[in-house]
Amino acid sequence: MNLNITEEKVFKDPVHKYIYVQDQTIWDLINTKEFQRLRRIRQLGTSYLTFHGAEHSRFSHSLGVYEITRKIISQFERNQYPGWPNEEKLLALCAALLHDVGHGPFSHSLEEVFDTHHEQWTCSILLEDTEVNRILRQVSDDFPEKVAAVIRKTYPNPIVAGLISSQMDADRMDYLLRDAYFTGVNYGNFDLERILRVLRPVQGKIVVKESGMHAIEHYLMSRYQMYWQIYFHPVTRSSEIILRQIFRRAKELYEKGHAFDWMPDPIRKLLDGTITVQSYLKLDEAYVQAAFLHWEDEPDTLLSDLCSRFLNRRLYKYITIPDPDESLLEEISRQFIAIGLNPAYHMEIDFPFDQPYDVYRPDSKKAGKEEKTPILLLDEQESLIEISAKSDIVRSITGLHQGEYHLYYPEEPLIGSKDKLSPALRELFKI
Ligand code: NI
Repeated sequence: MNLNITEEKVFKDPVHKYIYVQDQTIWDLINTKEFQRLRRIRQLGTSYLTFHGAEHSRFSHSLGVYEITRKIISQFERNQYPGWPNEEKLLALCAALLHDVGHGPFSHSLEEVFDTHHEQWTCSILLEDTEVNRILRQVSDDFPEKVAAVIRKTYPNPIVAGLISSQMDADRMDYLLRDAYFTGVNYGNFDLERILRVLRPVQGKIVVKESGMHAIEHYLMSRYQMYWQIYFHPVTRSSEIILRQIFRRAKELYEKGHAFDWMPDPIRKLLDGTITVQSYLKLDEAYVQAAFLHWEDEPDTLLSDLCSRFLNRRLYKYITIPDPDESLLEEISRQFIAIGLNPAYHMEIDFPFDQPYDVYRPDSKKAGKEEKTPILLLDEQESLIEISAKSDIVRSITGLHQGEYHLYYPEEPLIGSKDKLSPALRELFKI
């Protein structure tokens, strides 16, 4: 069952101008409580502490991914390309809309500490007793499972998953443009309309007409710039470190039997690893930050200090170190302990790296490494060529790009006790 709405619904959007909804199923999904919850989760986690404009939500991003997918499919339909399976349209649109529905508050930091994964939550929300599941089952009994298979990349027709998850998918195209818009930087801009015009469905893949190569180069450069200028910004990394330390400390205290003044059920279940879909859906960023406000008054000085640092943006500072050799770290750790700091919470090495574009070759596939389909160009003879074979620019950003080693630490206690630190350490920390 796939009903069109009598009058299409339109959302005003700063990135795509308008977002058009024509299917009743999509409209109903947007109005579920699980999807509306995404309004209360920021797209960029703690980046708002670095770029104050970055308050946009996963709700707006999810609508954007849906809209880009809709535009790509509509282009395929208008041109009647034989490679696109028209009967998969609603499936692709639902998967695009729902691909991030399992994100929790400050997802990436939370996932690291509690060893959960938003993709698994997305599948639970699709398949368990939720409003989303009820709407999807109205299409057909096996429709929720089909959407979950697209999200897990196990759906038998890979062209559907390729729209939402590949090296040039609707997800990436939306978040680069949206994050650039809301942070106020220009790096993330590229010509989306041009890219949408040159995409073609060929041999079960989405490929690019060769004349569109320069638009793709621009998109890959934007992605490269956004990672280093925005996503890996050292101040954002610092706030993520503090966030992880808060969760780690709360978990540690909880396991020791500490009696928290404020411990609502969903957070307790998160800490003891018994969280269910229904309690997970109650967790949003306001809820987690309310916990931090309460924990700021906890008698445990470590937890209260970390919460206060996060809420009031008194983040850790960082120094760049050439190579984190063990003896240096041991010396720092020893002197930190001597001035009353706890190295497990007060020093952290961060080493960002990124692969802007991965030329996947079957012979280079390592066990456990996720397969990344390369971007393919379609030339005038209808043959497919991997883009870095043609483009010097893409070749120049292929492979691993590594940042510097940063050591994060709280600066105030170091300044307060600087007389107790060795001259070498004072020089290293520039105090
Ligand atoms: Ni996404």
